Amino acid sequence: MRKHIVAGNWKMNNDLSMTETLISELKKQTITSDAEVMIAPVFTNLWPAYQALKDSDIEVVAQNMHFAESGAYTGEVSATMLKSVGVKTVILGHSERREYFNETDELLAKKVDAALANDMRVIFCFGEELAERKAGKEQEVVGSQIANALFHLDASAFKHIILAYEPVWAIGTGETASPEQAQDMHAFIRKTLADKYGAEVADEVSILYGGSVKPANAQEIFSKPDVDGGLIGGASLKADDFFAIVNAF
Ligand code: 13P
Repeated sequence: MRKHIVAGNWKMNNDLSMTETLISELKKQTITSDAEVMIAPVFTNLWPAYQALKDSDIEVVAQNMHFAESGAYTGEVSATMLKSVGVKTVILGHSERREYFNETDELLAKKVDAALANDMRVIFCFGEELAERKAGKEQEVVGSQIANALFHLDASAFKHIILAYEPVWAIGTGETASPEQAQDMHAFIRKTLADKYGAEVADEVSILYGGSVKPANAQEIFSKPDVDGGLIGGASLKADDFFAIVNAF
């Protein structure tokens, strides 16, 4: 059975004291659903977040990493460095990384390989832009983002991969994909995986939806059979809202 997962992507928000405050509020909440819960603070707050949450059911994950182990890559952080502060899962390929930091499918393939080589789990993000959806190209775009960055992997690698469909037009805009649009795309993603690796592999991969998920719409989106959870931006910055989403399953 594939897992339900709700992950909060804090993006470039929350300094150290805000991180400590939000974590203490998160620790007061109760998980009443079967969802695995994760938060992704900025690099500088991973260690204090890990220390504060290591005995809880909330996993601390990273928002990005470099593909090299170490060396002359000013400003970057490697998988071994993340692991040394307790991080075992990394978000890769977020549309903001692709758009503002020019991350390509080829670069992401290298990052995925580095994470897996270090026994880390990957939350791999992808999604089409508005113009691509308007042109009816959303499946073509998503299919090629997945194939280009992941289809060099063996089937066994998918035990360590979580997919996150985040249509760019729904991120931070208040405009969510309808539950039907999310389900249609998630079914397409699962079929794309099944065509390449077989249904048994595809059925075990958790596919999260991201893009303006809020307490008010989470339950309906999560009710769709191929939606296995959410990657939450804005609403993950408030403990009550985030847990309303966690417990929407
Ligand atoms: P919002 O929930 O703020 O739309 O952000 C989604 C997202 O980008 C999560 O990675």
